Amino acid sequence: MKVRPCRPLHPAVTTTPNAQARSPAPGALLAAVFVTFALSACGGSSNSSEDDRRAALAQGQQTFRFDTFGDEALWTDTLRMHEVIAGAVDPVTALSVGLKVDLDALPAAVRTAIGDGSIDLGSPATTVALIKLDAVVGIKGSVDTVNGSDQLSRVGITCALCHSTVDDSFAPGIGRRLDGWPNRDLDPGAIIALSPALDAATKAVYSSWGKGRFDPRFNVDGLSQPVLIPPAYGLEGIHRITYTGDGEDLAYWNRYVAVVEMGGQGSFVEPRLNLDIRNGSEDLVSAKLSALQAYQLSLAPPAPPAGSFDAAAAARGKSLFDGRAGCASCHSGPLLTDANERLHPPADSVAEPETPSYAARSATREYRSTPLRGAWQHPPYFHNGAAATLEDAVRLYDTRLGLQLGDAEIADLVEYLKSL
Ligand code: HEC
Ligand code: HEC
Repeated sequence: MKVRPCRPLHPAVTTTPNAQARSPAPGALLAAVFVTFALSACGGSSNSSEDDRRAALAQGQQTFRFDTFGDEALWTDTLRMHEVIAGAVDPVTALSVGLKVDLDALPAAVRTAIGDGSIDLGSPATTVALIKLDAVVGIKGSVDTVNGSDQLSRVGITCALCHSTVDDSFAPGIGRRLDGWPNRDLDPGAIIALSPALDAATKAVYSSWGKGRFDPRFNVDGLSQPVLIPPAYGLEGIHRITYTGDGEDLAYWNRYVAVVEMGGQGSFVEPRLNLDIRNGSEDLVSAKLSALQAYQLSLAPPAPPAGSFDAAAAARGKSLFDGRAGCASCHSGPLLTDANERLHPPADSVAEPETPSYAARSATREYRSTPLRGAWQHPPYFHNGAAATLEDAVRLYDTRLGLQLGDAEIADLVEYLKSL
């Protein structure tokens, strides 16, 4: 499907047909002709641009959840993960390394069988059956039936592996998809370390990262300092993407990840990092970036659960945030970040110093003030997880910036952060 780059009509133009109906003045008629022309240039009817938007979002969702960009070249041909999964990864093991199961992809009979224990969750064959149903979030496999039994012939990963989780509504790790929520249970390093293609030293590095963390630069510069998987929601209006603000739009980073990390077929060029990477001779990435970006931008940060914070304390906390604690000098505006105006030297991050510095390995060598909407949802905090809770984060600022906040003020600031 083709996504038309059709902009929403300017409000002044969309109101013109009504004006024409009321008073057919020559100017309005001329405007109506212009509108008709603009509409037909845009696909025929005023519904069509909305239809296009919906189609782009649907396509972007499909890409986000199910597209491997041809990265089976890495995960199957090089890392041989299809052998690992089929040989040793039963569902219990898969859930223990943070893989999630999409309840909506499970037929009723399978749900019942999981519920009553008649499906063997200790057998890798069950994992293959789940992959065949497209039910393992972020894992895309090709399953062939050979002599009546299912064989996993190819496997790849999708964006949803790291940037989706489930709501656990059926059982821990099994529920409805929550796209954009970082999977902080996932241990990508532990999964990659299962590959028989890696030497012991490389496996040791991957095994050291831990849950919710991944180093998207390790395979570029050989340094290991994993960062927390961030949310992919709440990014509408923010034009510095990643912890270090490397890209001005999501598509920049989506291309990076698809090609450089996932191993998708396509290219990524970044002179600031001296990178010129081309996988394969086909481009399975570029055409998908626009709809993929539109989908992510449609993902709003989740609202705090009802009753999860004290509103009066949060109001006091907001006054501190905007005033004496000085937070709003960087976490400014409705998005609670100054990202669109500036980035910050590493010394401005209370999670630094660290060795090696993550910023020093990036294209900008700086940090972006993290947007704080939905922060309640994804502890721990800062790029390297320096604070386990929001309270730890506030206490870190208090100590490092010498704010001399009292316990009650710290509690108020925490309630405010929980309310965002
Ligand atoms: C193996 C885990 C993994 C996969 C798969 C993955 N990402 Fe990420 N993603 C990360 C990590 C880790 C970061 C943090 C990197 C940084 O900010 O320097 C990140 C950062 C991002 C960001 C920046 C968020 C922000 O706050 O600016 C976006 C957007 C994003 N990823 C989208 C995607 C998309 C789209 C895909 C699929 C093409 C994808 N990711 C695949 C781990 C992953
Ligand atoms: C000088 C600019 C600056 C000021 C002032 C500032 N921040 Fe930050 N904030 C940042 C930067 C930069 C980051 C990202 C640092 C990193 O990840 O290493 C950040 C990250 C955070 C995070 C982590 C969010 C996440 O999802 O990981 C929280 C929470 C936070 N700030 C709260 C506050 C509070 C509360 C205050 C006031 C006490 C404050 N900040 C003051 C720049 C600032």
